[in-house]
Amino acid sequence: MKNTEGSSEAKRRAGEHAADLVDDGDVVGLGTGSTAAHAIRALGRAVDSGLDVRGIPTSFQSRQLALDAGIPLTSLDAVDGVDIAIDGADQVAERNDGGFDLVKGGGAAHAREKIVDAAAERFVVVADPSKLVDPLDYPVPVEVLPDARPTVAGTVRALGGEPTLRAAAHKDGPVVTDNGNVVLDCDFGPIEDPATLASELAALPGVVEQGLFVGLADAVHVGSADGVEVRG
Ligand code: 5RP
Repeated sequence: MKNTEGSSEAKRRAGEHAADLVDDGDVVGLGTGSTAAHAIRALGRAVDSGLDVRGIPTSFQSRQLALDAGIPLTSLDAVDGVDIAIDGADQVAERNDGGFDLVKGGGAAHAREKIVDAAAERFVVVADPSKLVDPLDYPVPVEVLPDARPTVAGTVRALGGEPTLRAAAHKDGPVVTDNGNVVLDCDFGPIEDPATLASELAALPGVVEQGLFVGLADAVHVGSADGVEVRG
């Protein structure tokens, strides 16, 4: 399940703009997806030019990209904190209090993304304009232990959602996450109260992580053909 709209130029601008926020000595959370990949490549170029950073990847994909880009890697248990995390989103809704709610997990990486993004002093979202919505209505990715798939799916239906087991793109069978689990994409239509839905989903036995990131992001860098708008 993935929103494939949005120009790659807009994504590039957003990713590169956010990478500029990284300071010498920073520990950086490296998000997952095509927009975050632009930030990782830009950081790699900065490392080539002498910037001293350590990255914490949020997925197998971002780890591989960072290694290819020459970014030294570390892990949460080896650092005192994360200075900044740069990550993409499937949808972004601005809240009344000026914060942001997100749906993430189009790349099935939202469990590790949430750990790293939430740990960061500053969590910056990179997006193209197609990601900005009000309200959120993207199917919420829910990573579940394989044994819990039927029971979680049943409760999601009882909560008014329609769960779909995410299928692997290039082979038979379901997508398997970096953590060995499966993903239910749960369509609730417009989500008027993300905080309540997030709590309900998170409380279900067998749910490893759900893809609503409620109020976690500090800023959103929205790329376009003309430049980058910073919100927050
Ligand atoms: C992965 C994610 C991605 O950040 C999200 O899917 C956005 O990806 P892209 O930048 O390719 O549109 O949450 O789990």
